[in-house]
Amino acid sequence: MDLRTTYLGLELKNPLVIGSSGLTDKLDKIKKAEEHNAGAVVLKSLFEEQIAAEADKLSSGDNNDYPDAYDYIQQYAQDRKINDYLDLIKDAKTAVDIPLIASINCVDANEWIDFARDIENAGADALELNIALLPSDPFVESKDNEKMYFKITEKVRKAISIPISVKIGYFSAGLANLIYNLSASGNVNGITLFNRFYSPDIDLDTLEITSSNVFSSSEEYTLPLRWIALLSEKIDADMAATTGIHDGKTAAKQILAGASAVHVVSALYKHGTEYINKILDDLENLMKKHDFKSIEEMKGKLSFHNIKSNKNYERIQFMKYFSGIS
Ligand SMILES: Cc1cc2nc3c(=O)[nH]c(=O)nc-3n(C[C@H](O)[C@H](O)[C@H](O)COP(=O)(O)O)c2cc1C
Repeated sequence: MDLRTTYLGLELKNPLVIGSSGLTDKLDKIKKAEEHNAGAVVLKSLFEEQIAAEADKLSSGDNNDYPDAYDYIQQYAQDRKINDYLDLIKDAKTAVDIPLIASINCVDANEWIDFARDIENAGADALELNIALLPSDPFVESKDNEKMYFKITEKVRKAISIPISVKIGYFSAGLANLIYNLSASGNVNGITLFNRFYSPDIDLDTLEITSSNVFSSSEEYTLPLRWIALLSEKIDADMAATTGIHDGKTAAKQILAGASAVHVVSALYKHGTEYINKILDDLENLMKKHDFKSIEEMKGKLSFHNIKSNKNYERIQFMKYFSGIS
């Protein structure tokens, strides 16, 4: 069984990528990922906000009296975080053979673009841009909101030559068009669907705002599945699925829809990194059952483009059930 896949122009021994998270923020964890057969890892993101928060902490939040000192501290905090990150890439690059995909969580095209160059020079094989946009302002048009995706990816593309993937959320009234245009811009090599955002909830006992579960449930995989199936043959970029992939079956489904790789996080927090082998065994068994000899042969077999009943991917009503259930 040939589990190899090409993702972002990189040769992966299998399509199972450990997604960006605390599972990839230290050298020993990255070594463990390789030991347990991960195809690649996306490193924990460097967050713009995280850097700013660290600067606040160091300056005890008292920025108004000493603006110059604050600037200095902010620069210091920024450098320190970045140096830790660059050291992790350099150390991991010598310690493991699997591809290392660095990650930056960004909301604007600011001076952090310089970090992208440092990340490339440190030896990262690719860079995932986690662009976290919430179109929550009722006075901003969707086109204006989404310009940011293009502004960021264009600037980063000019700065580095390693492959770039962009991880986006699903908040868009023109999602297919957005993904198509991102790939047509020529600035990205891959699209990762979807960013799983913090969601607020309400505690009815205390009437306070709480957070929904940070870990996904195994039912959530259908969200990326639809969009990967709809778009994988229409765009000139690799697609990766993230959210709700908890086993070999759901990994297989994303590949059948057209994904080149699957990013797994919550299931590995729950069962340990060694669970990768169980996911891969189950994926191989499914391939055997349906007589697929390779991931390449299996990839996209059930994409919108390749099946007759493809309208099911565009369907949004349970009409048959709604009309029959009283
Ligand atoms: C504890 C934790 C930390 C995460 N940190 C990041 C991060 O730094 N950058 C990022 O792009 N995604 C981050 N994610 C999101 C994951 O990469 C992934 O997209 C999401 O958890 C959905 O995949 P899953 O269903 O396999 O968990 C994090 C997720 C978890 C649970």
